[in-house]
Amino acid sequence: MRPEAIYEALLEPEGAQDPYPLYAALHAHGTVLAIGDGQVLVPGYHAANSILRDPRFRVDDAEIFDRGDVSWREHPVLNAPNLLSLNGAGHDRIRSLMTRRFTRQRVQALTQTISALLDRLLDAMALAGSDGSSIDFIAEFAYALPVTVICGLIGATDWNITMLRGLSRRLSAVLEPEIDDDVIAEGDAAAITLADMFTELVADRRMRPRYDLVSELVAIADAPDAPISQSELIQNLILLLVAGFECSMNLLGSGLQIVFTETGLGDGLRSGRIRPDAFVEELLRYEAPVQDTSRHLTSPGEIDGIMVDSYDEIVLLLGAANRDPRRFAEPDVFRPERTDAGSLTFGAGTHFCLGAVLARLEAELAFPMLLQRFPGLVPAGPADRRPGVTSRGFDRMPVSLS
Ligand code: HEM
Repeated sequence: MRPEAIYEALLEPEGAQDPYPLYAALHAHGTVLAIGDGQVLVPGYHAANSILRDPRFRVDDAEIFDRGDVSWREHPVLNAPNLLSLNGAGHDRIRSLMTRRFTRQRVQALTQTISALLDRLLDAMALAGSDGSSIDFIAEFAYALPVTVICGLIGATDWNITMLRGLSRRLSAVLEPEIDDDVIAEGDAAAITLADMFTELVADRRMRPRYDLVSELVAIADAPDAPISQSELIQNLILLLVAGFECSMNLLGSGLQIVFTETGLGDGLRSGRIRPDAFVEELLRYEAPVQDTSRHLTSPGEIDGIMVDSYDEIVLLLGAANRDPRRFAEPDVFRPERTDAGSLTFGAGTHFCLGAVLARLEAELAFPMLLQRFPGLVPAGPADRRPGVTSRGFDRMPVSLS
């Protein structure tokens, strides 16, 4: 199959369900593949890594959006000046305000809080499953854990957590490669609701500051010569919230699925024979919750010998890069003890995931505690994979505790 046909297959529901054979087919064609219509696919690990670290390759910012349909500015879901739609100095200015709040030290200090939350979630699961009924692992654990952590960190502790899942789903749906007007309209409505919720929270903390992220950022945004505007503050809080649980939820769901399918993993994690950090590192490589991202050049350039025009869409297939046989020995084998670890799951370079330490910590604490608490945990029916190519995870995963 030609690369363009492989990519088309990947965008089909069956392709997205199991993209790995298609990625393998792309690897056989090369590391960078121009597929026409101004699109360039990058399945190769080294090429994707260099592009992510090269500032000439830009995320979609206002200038790039302006080259397409000019009506994008009327859509709140697209016209959202957050870190992922800013380049250069504008990005650095906001990123530096955020980075110091997500240092390893500050995140590690959450260990006790996260462990206590895990205890509460496991107690709730034990209670719900005590009569032998099945439990949806995604709703009760994979979603509940990271959403509670990020809401606590931000300071949105009174919010209705159940409602956030739908709002975030509608917002992140616009990141998929193929979207229609309905998806944008639903995304707009969700973006407006979340902006209203954060505006209210910001106003509250302005009056009654607490020890939380919103209060800290409000103080910065209200200072003379503030390095961040009010609307940038709101948009970046929305990004933090959504990024803070969507991907971690996907990671936890995929992790349990692998524990169910790979012999010995559950026992190894329970007994401590398999180190949680090694398991999580391999899980991140094997099932990247974000399978792709994109970049543009504003003047023509070359990657691995392939000429790329300015404003071509360069699709970085992170999920494929993580299975690149030129980088990883036996890439389709799940092997926590591998010595060639190092995935592109959190990106690389200036947009490297702000929440990587937090996401790793949550998963490293979650799996041993879950498996020790419920040694007889088994699937209680088929799991529903979420649709789409970019976001990889599950919508529902029924489990039984014994
Ligand atoms: C397993 C979980 C996660 C995965 C796989 C993930 C993945 C990613 C990736 C691939 C990027 C870079 C996108 C690009 O360069 O185009 C990114 C950026 C980002 N992530 Fe995460 N993420 C995860 C968890 C989190 C968490 C928990 C938070 C919040 C605490 C977070 C906040 C962010 C932010 C704010 C950015 C934008 C950084 C920037 O543009 O400077 N992420 N993430």
